[in-house]
Amino acid sequence: MTPPASLESFLNAAWSRLSRGVADPKSACNRPTLATTGPEMRTVVLRAANRDAGTLDIHSHAQAGKITQIAADPAVALHVWDARANLQIRLRGRAELHIGTPLAKDVESRLPARTHEIYRISQTPGAIIPSPEVTRFDGPPAFALIRVTLDQIELLHLDRSRHSRALFCREDGWTGSWRAP
Ligand SMILES: Cc1cc2nc3c(=O)[nH]c(=O)nc-3n(C[C@H](O)[C@H](O)[C@H](O)COP(=O)(O)O)c2cc1C
Repeated sequence: MTPPASLESFLNAAWSRLSRGVADPKSACNRPTLATTGPEMRTVVLRAANRDAGTLDIHSHAQAGKITQIAADPAVALHVWDARANLQIRLRGRAELHIGTPLAKDVESRLPARTHEIYRISQTPGAIIPSPEVTRFDGPPAFALIRVTLDQIELLHLDRSRHSRALFCREDGWTGSWRAP
């Protein structure tokens, strides 16, 4: 990626990479780090990116630690370092949990059959088990959709000629402002 010529093109580049992340498992944006209060961080797969709504979707197990953390405090952040583009993407927002709702059921129904299995693990995620071999996939369905409504997108592009940093906020209509790197 070349240094952004305008705030608009900078934000366009970020959304284009996020969209590609949903479709391309080899893209850096496919596996962002999700931070919740604690602080706690973990890798997740980006499942959907909706620029119009400014939302990102993540799938998880309804009893995962991150679900409890989000239920207690919906403030979340996501981070991507896209080495090919020399672009860091920092995303901040509020997460909404959808468990057993019509939306969650609809999203889950469109997942491949093999994927359903991981949301039917018989033990609670994080529970002590005697060995990995005893993991069984015969538990009740526990699919969770985490929908993050973004409030801020902060971008940092590194280049020999110059570094470019900008902050875009929902409250100002995503017009953005340049920041000192
Ligand atoms: C490459 C990779 C992708 C992952 N994708 C997800 C994911 O999409 N959703 C998820 O809940 N956990 C995912 N995990 C597992 C999490 O990183 C984490 O270990 C697990 O969800 C438990 O986290 P928690 O206790 O904070 O909920 C992924 C892990 C790796 C290494």
